[in-house]
Amino acid sequence: MAVIGHDIQQAAALLQAGQLVAIPTETVYGLAANALNEEALEQIFTVKQRPKSDPLIMHVPGLEGAATYTKDMPGGAIALAQAFWPGPLTLLLEHNQQVPQLITAGLPRAAFRAPNHPMTQALLAMLPFPLAAPSANPFGYVSPTTAEHVDDQLGGRISFILDGGPCAVGIESTIVGFDEVKGAVQAVVYRQGGITQSMLAEVLGYTPLVKAPKQAIPEAPGMLSSHYAPHTPLAVVKDVATALSKLSGQKVGLLLLQERESLVPEGRQVHLAPDGRLETAAQNLYAGLRYLDGLGLDVILAERLPEEGLGAAMNDRLARAAAKRT
Ligand code: TXA
Ligand code: MG
Repeated sequence: MAVIGHDIQQAAALLQAGQLVAIPTETVYGLAANALNEEALEQIFTVKQRPKSDPLIMHVPGLEGAATYTKDMPGGAIALAQAFWPGPLTLLLEHNQQVPQLITAGLPRAAFRAPNHPMTQALLAMLPFPLAAPSANPFGYVSPTTAEHVDDQLGGRISFILDGGPCAVGIESTIVGFDEVKGAVQAVVYRQGGITQSMLAEVLGYTPLVKAPKQAIPEAPGMLSSHYAPHTPLAVVKDVATALSKLSGQKVGLLLLQERESLVPEGRQVHLAPDGRLETAAQNLYAGLRYLDGLGLDVILAERLPEEGLGAAMNDRLARAAAKRT
């Protein structure tokens, strides 16, 4: 198993030596490597069993860090970075020659994010290179929101996990690119996440389009098909009680927004937000899925969340988790 520790210097030394380190961010834990070191990048794909057609996010301290590796940024990108960095926002920006091909899967844009976690910010400030970091889970599985989640799945394959506690946001960053829409360059959401549509709209002056997962195929293969998925079959339903009544004889687990009476045997019902807040639900979503996935159930029924605020991003992840694997 990996060492789980708090020593930022140790993490920096390992990264300088070309090794992988799992790092905390406010969204989910990342599996980090020196973004300018091809051999280190290769290890990310091996450890995650991730296809090289799926590009990686470059984590930088802030806007200046991204500028080092990009061509001209659209004005909207600068405005969004100024408003939300450090934070759960990833920007797709045209990159320059310094960005390795392995980061971008050969695409003209690279993904940049300034994470908002004090330990990882301190780490980035110490290092002379950005950190490439996908979520620290095997390809296609649920993202980790604690150091223990990382250790459970990747502990045998990496030496060090920097423990920054449970992730404050709990779902991945919002990914925004800038595309020509009806003759004008506009922000387009490639993945919904920690920055909501209304937060983006407040800065942009319009509500950006959200790309449907299928449309995103060539640009972001990792956003496709079944992803963020537990091993147990999962269904997302509006009315849990009705869906449950059709599953007699099956061992069912429930993922519900709020506290309510038990519909299934003790221990098989997870309440994501005792306070009813979607922010709380997001913090607990992946831990809840992992917990239920460990119970050896026949099926997990997840309650569809209100399609507002962070609920939209959570519904997106649940839908992808429920998609049939091919
Ligand atoms: O919150 C997050 O974004 C976390 C933390 C660790 O920062 N990272 C994360 O990385 O979720 P990952 O690799 O699990 O998901 C990144 C997504 C993938 O679906 C990938 O295809 C897409 O971003 N992506 C990366 N670079 C891209 C690019 N150049 N163009 C389009 N999509 C890109
Ligand atoms: Mg991921």
